[in-house]
Amino acid sequence: MNFDWDVLVSAAIKARQNAYAPYSKFPVGAAARVTDGRFVTGCNVENAAYGVTLCAECGLISQLVLSGGGRLTHFVCVNAHGEVLMPCGRCRQLLWEHGGPELEVLTATGVRRMDEVLPDAFGADDLHISGGG
Ligand code: THU
Repeated sequence: MNFDWDVLVSAAIKARQNAYAPYSKFPVGAAARVTDGRFVTGCNVENAAYGVTLCAECGLISQLVLSGGGRLTHFVCVNAHGEVLMPCGRCRQLLWEHGGPELEVLTATGVRRMDEVLPDAFGADDLHISGGG
C-alpha cells in the first residue's frame, strides 16, 4: 500500500501542540491510522509526580478504544521539532497490543514493522501458552 506518511506526521505535529510537558519541556505528539481508515492521536501529559506521566501513545490508545477500537496499521510520533521519535519501551508494548507484528512504524531510519521495533514481544498468546495457574 502506498501510504501517505506526511498526512500522519502532520496529525502528530498537530497533536503535539496540545502536549502538557511543563517538567521535561519535551512535547510529544503521536498519530496512527486505524483499519477502518480513521486517525487517532495523542500528546504527552506530565504530572508533578513525574512517574505518573502519560506518554503521547497512552492518549492515542485511549482514543482508539474510546472511539470504537480497531487495529492500528500505521504509527508515528514526533518531538518539538517535528522530528520522528522512537516510542519508549512501555509504549511499544501498548502498540503491540493494538497493532501486532504488522503495524508499520515510521522511524528516523525508515518504515519498520512492529515485530522489528519490539522483537520477541510478550503478547496475549503468551498468556494462553504459559497458563495462569
Ligand atoms: N514521551 C512520550 O510521550 N512518548 C514516548 O514514546 C517517549 C517519551 C514523553 C514522556 C515525557 O513527557 C517526555 O516525553 C520526556 O520523556
